[in-house]
Amino acid sequence: MTLTTQLQQIQRLQLTGTLASGIAHDLNNQLTLVLGHLQVAVDRLPATEEDTLDSLRLAQIAASNCANLSQRLLHLGRHIPAPKSRKPLDLSAAILDTHQLLGCIKPRNVNMRVQVDPGLLLPADPIQIQQILINLATNAFHAMPSGGEFRIKAWADDNIWIAVRDNGCGIPESLRRRVFEPFFTTHPEDGGTGLGLASVNAIVRNLSGSLELDSEPGKGTTFLLSFPLPVEKPGDLPLAA
Ligand SMILES: Nc1ncnc2c1ncn2[C@@H]1O[C@H](COP(=O)(O)OP(=O)(O)OP(=O)(O)O)[C@@H](O)[C@H]1O
Ligand SMILES: [Mg+2]
Repeated sequence: MTLTTQLQQIQRLQLTGTLASGIAHDLNNQLTLVLGHLQVAVDRLPATEEDTLDSLRLAQIAASNCANLSQRLLHLGRHIPAPKSRKPLDLSAAILDTHQLLGCIKPRNVNMRVQVDPGLLLPADPIQIQQILINLATNAFHAMPSGGEFRIKAWADDNIWIAVRDNGCGIPESLRRRVFEPFFTTHPEDGGTGLGLASVNAIVRNLSGSLELDSEPGKGTTFLLSFPLPVEKPGDLPLAA
């Protein structure tokens, strides 16, 4: 590659970063409006409207997660590292919270079950756990158009493990490596961008974890994630919220 081509590529990357920052900034402004209106709706509804209030509160959580994500995008564009949570997160609670959030995107014909050992800790940000599980769940739901079983299991021994399993269409052997490539998708016609698994992979690595994929076409797919146990140091910070 010539020096001129390299320079052009760097300039293009810089421009992409600047554009992404601009979009993140405007996205944040819109999200502020969404959050504001959600709060107005929550305040106006009588306490007897429990189900609607629950839905609005879950929408508030999802909208503030989006605000958190777009904040990271802003940091990325400015080349400032996003603040990294060092606090040990209550992973068990984070998984159960995400399970609740997934309720509204889960197709009716899918049976979702979560089995999580209590008290699992991981130095992570709750939004990273959500990003991982939402991406894996969305893919699983897509792989089970006629319904099926979706399972999340988490436990610890010498490592922390999270297994995410579906009994959908499975992934053929020939594609098992490619599915982690950015922009690889088998359903572009449904708006798939092919960034889901690439982002799961990046987050898992960022948390010093590893990821294995086991799949049998026609039977289903399991993603097995493992993370090192957190090393406890005297004076460790309290649990992240
Ligand atoms: N649980 C699964 N069962 C069957 N195929 C899967 C599963 N998870 C991923 N895949 C395959 O891997 C491909 C890449 O997944 P990825 O999440 O990266 O992108 P996508 O789902 O196609 O698009 P996006 O996530 O951006 O909407 C999918 O298009 C699909 O072919
Ligand atoms: Mg996906």
